[in-house]
Amino acid sequence: MQSHLRYDTRGTEDEQLSPSAIFSLVGPELLLVEKEFELQVSGGPSIVSSIGRYLREGGGKRVRPALLLLASKAVHGKAGASAVSMATVMEMLHTATLVHDDIIDGARVRRGRPSVNAKWGSEVTVLIGDWLYMTAFDITLRERSFDILDVLTSMTRLMTEGELIQLTMIGNSRITESEHLEIVKRKTAYMFSACAEVGAIVAGATPEERRALARYGLSVGIAFQLIDDLLDFVSTEDKLGKPVANDIREGKLTLPIIYLLEEDVQHRRLIETVIAEQGFNSVAREDLVRLLRENSALDRARSQARLYAEEATEVLSIFQPSEYIDALRSVPRFILDRDM
Ligand code: IPE
Ligand code: IPE
Ligand code: MG
Ligand code: MG
Repeated sequence: MQSHLRYDTRGTEDEQLSPSAIFSLVGPELLLVEKEFELQVSGGPSIVSSIGRYLREGGGKRVRPALLLLASKAVHGKAGASAVSMATVMEMLHTATLVHDDIIDGARVRRGRPSVNAKWGSEVTVLIGDWLYMTAFDITLRERSFDILDVLTSMTRLMTEGELIQLTMIGNSRITESEHLEIVKRKTAYMFSACAEVGAIVAGATPEERRALARYGLSVGIAFQLIDDLLDFVSTEDKLGKPVANDIREGKLTLPIIYLLEEDVQHRRLIETVIAEQGFNSVAREDLVRLLRENSALDRARSQARLYAEEATEVLSIFQPSEYIDALRSVPRFILDRDM
């Protein structure tokens, strides 16, 4: 079975592990995750197995399962069967949120291919998302661990709340930085936190180690979403495999726009025009990006992401040094530098 990890092997000067070095530390387990995902969907009705396979083959970075496996290895030196099962669960839950998110955002492209909603329609896609959620919980139940169930149910509720809160904020050009951060935590960061924490739980971590990894994951997740929001402005659909300049078109204000409006409220009318027209008609996308650059809004947003990335690495200081801790330490940097 083919892995879908598409990283270069570039090393960095300051002894950061490269993305390929990070992922190779959990390479064999990630292949097992692919197998387990395939096995689960192939056990469903044929519509589930075809869409499930389509989703799995679409690739994706597999950041969440990799984090779970690395956390487990950082605590216990290995990632056993439970870690592999739970890493699969996390990829399933992530996939469920993606297919639902694409319906909500009306996105036609995901991972460089037609989204499930574009190919099969929204009705089928809602149910595939539900199937993935419930299958993920079914697999989790087999672990017979209330600790894990606790983490996952809270996380799922928070994520759903995040998407709901985001909907209530659509078109609101007065959203504050802290309101936005709350959405970011809920819709993305708690899942990263849960990945690191569940990795710790299955490895038999102490409460202190578990708390540190949960905290690490939260900061990594915030940085990850802040960068995703930046890439929405500065990257291309070819690179990201999903639509760009989409957030503002949908009326979702992210950090760069919030900072731009902080600099000068005069820009509010321009932003409101894009939102009202649901696209770049009277206002050109390049002009908006230029304005963001000129007002240092992109730089400020990136610095904010960097702060969370640094916060993430700091909490790892309680662990004994190991190659897995080095890898966890390198993940935030790779997230800051990513362009896909
Ligand atoms: C996309 O996540 C959703 C966000 C939280 C921004 P990823 O960027 O991890 O998506 P894949 O799995 O690599 O496609
Ligand atoms: C992440 O937000 C949503 C999820 C938690 C699934 P986005 O809406 O920014 O994700 P993308 O950009 O569509 O991947
Ligand atoms: Mg989206
Ligand atoms: Mg996005």
